[in-house]
Amino acid sequence: MVNQILYLCLFSLSISNSLFVLANSETYIVHMDLSTMPKSFSSHHTWFTATLNSITPTTTTATTSTSSKLVYSYTNAIHGFTATLSPSELEIIKNSRGYLSSIKDSPVQLDTTHSTQFLGLNSNSGAWPVAGYGKDVIIGLVDTGVWPESGSFDDNGMGAVPTRWKGECEAGVQFNSSLCNKKLIGARYFNKGILSNLPNSTLSMNSARDTDGHGTHTSSTAAGRYVKHASYFGYGTGTAVGVAPNARIAMYKAVWEEGVFVSDILAAIDQAIVDGVDVLSLSLGADGVPLHQDPIAIATFAALEKGIFVSASAGNHGPYLRSLHNGTPWVLTVAASTIDREFTGMLTLGNGVSVTGFGLYPGDSSSNPAPMVFIGACEKKMEANKLERKIVVCLDNNDTLSQQFFMVESLNVLGAIFITNSTDLERYMQTSYPVLLLDLHSGKIVTDYIQKLNKGEAKASMRFHGTRLGTKPAPRVSSYSSRGPSYTCPVVLKPDLTAPGSLILAAWPDSILAVAIGKEHEQLFSKFNLLSGTSMSCPHASGVGALLKATHPEWSPSAIRSAMMTTSDILDNTFKPIQDIADDVNPATPLAMGSGHVSPNKALNPGLVYDVKPEDYVNLLCGLNFTKVQIQTITRSSTFNCSNPTLDINYPSFIAYFNGNDTKSTAKVVRVFKRTVTYVGDGSSTFTAKLTAISGLNVSVSPEKLSFRLKNEKQSYKLRIEGPNRLNDEVVYGFLSWIESKGKIVVRSPIVATSLTSKVDTF
Ligand SMILES: *[C@@H]1O[C@H](CO)[C@@H](O)[C@H](O)[C@H]1NC(C)=O
Ligand SMILES: *[C@@H]1O[C@H](CO)[C@@H](O)[C@H](O)[C@H]1NC(C)=O
Ligand SMILES: *[C@@H]1O[C@H](CO)[C@@H](O)[C@H](O)[C@H]1NC(C)=O
Ligand SMILES: *[C@@H]1O[C@H](CO)[C@@H](O)[C@H](O)[C@H]1NC(C)=O
Ligand SMILES: *[C@@H]1O[C@H](CO)[C@@H](O)[C@H](O)[C@H]1NC(C)=O
Ligand SMILES: *[C@@H]1O[C@H](CO)[C@@H](O)[C@H](O)[C@H]1NC(C)=O
Ligand SMILES: *[C@@H]1O[C@H](CO)[C@@H](O)[C@H](O)[C@H]1NC(C)=O
Ligand SMILES: *[C@@H]1O[C@H](CO)[C@@H](O)[C@H](O)[C@H]1NC(C)=O
Repeated sequence: MVNQILYLCLFSLSISNSLFVLANSETYIVHMDLSTMPKSFSSHHTWFTATLNSITPTTTTATTSTSSKLVYSYTNAIHGFTATLSPSELEIIKNSRGYLSSIKDSPVQLDTTHSTQFLGLNSNSGAWPVAGYGKDVIIGLVDTGVWPESGSFDDNGMGAVPTRWKGECEAGVQFNSSLCNKKLIGARYFNKGILSNLPNSTLSMNSARDTDGHGTHTSSTAAGRYVKHASYFGYGTGTAVGVAPNARIAMYKAVWEEGVFVSDILAAIDQAIVDGVDVLSLSLGADGVPLHQDPIAIATFAALEKGIFVSASAGNHGPYLRSLHNGTPWVLTVAASTIDREFTGMLTLGNGVSVTGFGLYPGDSSSNPAPMVFIGACEKKMEANKLERKIVVCLDNNDTLSQQFFMVESLNVLGAIFITNSTDLERYMQTSYPVLLLDLHSGKIVTDYIQKLNKGEAKASMRFHGTRLGTKPAPRVSSYSSRGPSYTCPVVLKPDLTAPGSLILAAWPDSILAVAIGKEHEQLFSKFNLLSGTSMSCPHASGVGALLKATHPEWSPSAIRSAMMTTSDILDNTFKPIQDIADDVNPATPLAMGSGHVSPNKALNPGLVYDVKPEDYVNLLCGLNFTKVQIQTITRSSTFNCSNPTLDINYPSFIAYFNGNDTKSTAKVVRVFKRTVTYVGDGSSTFTAKLTAISGLNVSVSPEKLSFRLKNEKQSYKLRIEGPNRLNDEVVYGFLSWIESKGKIVVRSPIVATSLTSKVDTF
């Protein structure tokens, strides 16, 4: 979580910087209708340039040439360009031929290895051997760059780069073009947007080299190779490996320490499409914008049309409902959860008794017993000089852990013990001084020991660097993970699924970027770092997408998404419903975890898939009452029409709104969903519907049996939900499962019914 805070700081830095941009000239992204391009132009680039040339020079810009106005001309992600324009120049562009819409360039939000084992990936059976470990699938990431020297990007033993690849290894500051190899097959950087928005800023690392760590971490999570003896200061020691270790990586750096802008993100995705990536992994998102202004939503529509599978992070603004970004119907939206690993330390009391707690202190801890004092709630002013070089023991008895934590951090104590009932502890673990978090049971052993002795007699020593595997229950949905419904498209249930995101160990730029601060305030370095966030869960899902793409190259992006969703797990490793850390020990709802926890081995053979075609998404945008111009901004095509508007697309999940005003009305409300499934198994097969009851609703499916004789045969069914005008509960849910008669295949879809608003936020 330390890193998440860091990103927030970087992000707000870029916002405030942008306020300094000269008022008379700003950067705009302009969408154009290519179908109106006069035949006299040889390419859309020359047309865009001519459109810019048509601006009559005004006094302030008389010396500015067109070439310096043009920031980017795009090919795929959008039809249009980015340019620096004064208000009057923008007006002229608005009146020129083919103008569709424009938005001001704006900042974008970044989200922030044992996890492959936790996903069930192994070399004996399942997705790894079947998919050849993701052989030759190309994963593109738009991120902070890459640290090519990391062992995770070693290409030893990999075959030649696929000949279809059109990408490049761009040279730049501290990055020469021979740094790419057969693993890292592309590295590019996109800085024209940031430089035009912040004309006076100098980029501290003007190349694809990663000086932040985020991109090195995400890319090695998706497709890093085997690195032995990886660890974070001895925590989590083992062999690090990404989800698709034989896939290729292409890095598109568009996230700068100095800021992140829509125009650069668009340019990066535009180029990734041209270069020929198969999977796009986007651990970032734009907050508070509708779909037709969301650069990721717009650019990924073009990716979808090209058959590129896109996985994107849900965001770290949980646990509040309607907090997620990338709630875009044509991407996979990924939530974050824990894995079955805990990092521990031990407190040994003067009487020889030891208790274990959680901690990730990186340094050596003194083994000599030190005086220990019990304070109670460490929230008030404490006498700092009396606590120096002591171990303080604090009790969180009223949900004040975060205040106590920050209060003690400011003191010069030898170590701290926090006794707490909370299980949401991740953000308190990466500390620069020895800290252990104890549960109530262990805490009582410690306080009993202290209270039996005279003042000043209690002593203890601390030891760190423990790792426990197979801990239960796991996974649990992390509280920071953003929750649905999607405010940009509430009629499609989001997020889609959850994947490992908490305390994920992956590669790091070891020689420039400290991962921790030691006891003497020294910087500590490591080739691997532990990070948490949906930024970390997204590349896990991207890696699974790559494994599926390698196994089933003919599957569409929505078929791959469907396979991942309908086969995901809803039970944890104790065979109980996956819990939500933010909600005591209650089960996580589909608004927190989507269909469940991704399960790559099962996703190989999903039985049935729910396919969605690009035109289905257009019909959905029509149903949501987007204007023609807004739709064209996303689809780039003017040849669609809204003769089949719908709010119901062929999605592998359901969300129904019972949010009427009239609570006294006894009239029933009926919601009907139509779905068509495609059989992707071998031989003939029959599937039978099974519904879990949802309190307050009557749910039925018809027909209740679907029979298939051949692969790729399609069958349709209807799901009917009858309920009150307004539900008493905010959120209720259940599942529809199609169970294959002959085998073990279960094709499960979550069903959410809610009284929340179904309005699309227009901002
Ligand atoms: C950028 O630099 C120019 C020339 O040095 C200066 O006139 C201008 O005020 C600077 N702009 C900002 C936003 O600092
Ligand atoms: C890149 O760096 C390597 C090692 O420093 C050097 O041998 C090589 O010539 C450089 N290549 C280019 C294209 O500059
Ligand atoms: C617990 O916290 C609540 C809210 O912050 C406060 O009103 C209450 O007085 C506290 N109780 C104790 C025992 O400190
Ligand atoms: C600790 O948490 C559990 C489960 O949330 C709860 O039942 C129990 O009352 C809590 N105990 C204390 C002392 O807060
Ligand atoms: C779209 O507009 C129509 C006509 O005004 C209205 O009936 C319908 O409820 C609107 N749909 C949405 C999703 O807002
Ligand atoms: C709308 O588009 C569909 C599919 O492309 C086409 O069949 C239909 O004729 C079009 N309708 C109108 C009114 O243009
Ligand atoms: C609910 O009631 C308010 C005020 O009576 C009204 O403005 C609003 O349109 C109603 N909403 C719906 C969904 O009927
Ligand atoms: C469910 O169906 C039964 C029988 O038709 C009916 O009595 C009941 O009111 C329905 N419940 C709801 C919530 O619609």
